[in-house]
Amino acid sequence: MEAEGEQLCEAARNGDVTKVNTLIKSGADVSYFDSDGLTPLMHAAKLGYTDVVKALLEAGAPWNALSPANQSAGDFAMDAGHQEAFEVLLNAGIQAELILGTIARKTKKDGDCEGAYLDDRVSFSEDKLMDSDSKAVMMAWEKPLMEAHAKAVCSGGGSILNVGFGMGLVDTAIQQYGPAKHTIVEAHPEVYERMLRTGWGEKDNVKIIFGRWQDVLSQLESYDGIFFDTYGEYYEDLREFHQHLPKLLSLEEFTLILMAFVEVMHSSMLFTAI
Ligand SMILES: C[S@@+](CC[C@H](N)C(=O)[O-])C[C@H]1O[C@@H](n2cnc3c(N)ncnc32)[C@H](O)[C@@H]1O
Repeated sequence: MEAEGEQLCEAARNGDVTKVNTLIKSGADVSYFDSDGLTPLMHAAKLGYTDVVKALLEAGAPWNALSPANQSAGDFAMDAGHQEAFEVLLNAGIQAELILGTIARKTKKDGDCEGAYLDDRVSFSEDKLMDSDSKAVMMAWEKPLMEAHAKAVCSGGGSILNVGFGMGLVDTAIQQYGPAKHTIVEAHPEVYERMLRTGWGEKDNVKIIFGRWQDVLSQLESYDGIFFDTYGEYYEDLREFHQHLPKLLSLEEFTLILMAFVEVMHSSMLFTAI
């Protein structure tokens, strides 16, 4: 088994998709970790072998396994500039999260505790925000995506609302556009505490509202651009948020432009009023 795992890692490093498929068929473990703590998927991602990445994912290789340095295959692909392999991994993550979301929703309906994420501890490292199950709430490799969202959401200037601070990636990018007013809603006490500790409460144009967006709606005004990216919520929550957009967007007769969207490992949405 170990020998096959090693062979799979080697085939992945060589970009040899035929060998990879043969080994998979003969039962090689796609979630094997070699002595460096790397999986075949990480090797393929690191070297940009997209066809190997696809073959391994189709065989059930875990897209979210972490190396000893806490890097996922997606991190390896992005760091090495392998955009195609990165996008394949990103899509695998989105699909997995949608499926997991459906399962979790069913569990919740069956009586599991609601809002567990917000009641639990989170931990920050330099490049990740993790929940108490060591699942990534936000990862630094999502920064380019957050920057693109910020650019779009600030395109009309004016006043901006962001729901869900996380690592502050999108808010940092929004600040670069110097919005007249920048409101941030954040519900997790430890994330909120960290926001204050890192000076977000002292910025002239920033207003922080602590609480679940569902509970602080009465404190919200109307905005020219809105970004929504929470965690531990479901599509139904997003749909509920949609119902409030006519009030939350600046113009009375507004046109809602849905610009970009179902994002990695959680739903994020961006809205602007024209
Ligand atoms: C995925 S992170 C946001 C990442 C952020 N876009 C960034 O660029 O770093 C989600 C954040 O939403 C917060 N959150 C979860 N549920 C929320 C809710 N109902 N209302 C407000 N914030 C919520 C979480 O605590 C977490 O900080």
